[in-house]
Amino acid sequence: MYVVPGSASKSIASHLVRELSADTADVEIRRFIDGECYVRVKSDLKGEDVIIVQNTYPDENIIETILLKSAVKDMEPKSITLVIPYLGYARQDRKFQDGEAVSAKALARILSIDVDLVITVDPHKNYIVDFFETKASFCSAVPEIVKYLLPKDIDVVLAPDKGAVERAEEAAKILGCESDFLEKKRISDEIVEMKPKEIEVKKKTVAIIDDIISTGGTMAKAVEEIRKQGAKDVYVACTHGLFIGNAIDKINRAGATEIISTDTIENAYSKVKVAPQIAKTLKENFPN
Ligand code: R5P
Repeated sequence: MYVVPGSASKSIASHLVRELSADTADVEIRRFIDGECYVRVKSDLKGEDVIIVQNTYPDENIIETILLKSAVKDMEPKSITLVIPYLGYARQDRKFQDGEAVSAKALARILSIDVDLVITVDPHKNYIVDFFETKASFCSAVPEIVKYLLPKDIDVVLAPDKGAVERAEEAAKILGCESDFLEKKRISDEIVEMKPKEIEVKKKTVAIIDDIISTGGTMAKAVEEIRKQGAKDVYVACTHGLFIGNAIDKINRAGATEIISTDTIENAYSKVKVAPQIAKTLKENFPN
């Protein structure tokens, strides 16, 4: 079994090599002066089970993923599994207005080509895996996030909006505490409002968990609201930490005690590793 590390997911790929006792394929990935991508797989992968690990964010990594699949396929491997730690474009998972492209579906179609199995982590909505035209599954990063939160003695886990409530419930169940959600109203890409809602957080230690932190607008508002209601400590955790622009500043200024993300997108806050959950899901679904 070989792991092919994409340039956006090298760290997860190396953890997966260890988890699966696999080999790392030798790949050369670079950009031409005009920005186009060059991919060469140097290891001989004929007859091998091959696992390509690569995010589809930002856009340039979509092209890299397509080229990696193509190079691997030409080598006639036994199977190809595509692990996408962060599946970009997943938030447009339906038509909100006539004529819109459902980007989650469009991307899933392209990524399915030549692939026997797709595994992703916390897709924005679980049903997104059904958009793939090949076998696809996902794992949750919540069990790993919870391991990190365990020593913090969390009293309440909150979702910053109703859409994220299942994740908060999953974490609260493992932590053995209460869960609830805030009422978010999105005004624009960067601005959100929290509708007033009383939650029992006075003098309590709270964790707010979401799938993605992008501009930080959602989390900053959620932290602000919970601080206003008298929480003692507010831990902020997400699976995919995009942290665009001054997201971290916004969340800190709102009063976060600590910001935690997983390593699906490698950044300074990647305190939680998702490779164990990916390896487990991979073993459960492996195409043999
Ligand atoms: C939205 O439904 C997602 O779960 C996140 O809440 C959202 O993507 C966060 O975006 P931002 O950090 O820009 O508020």
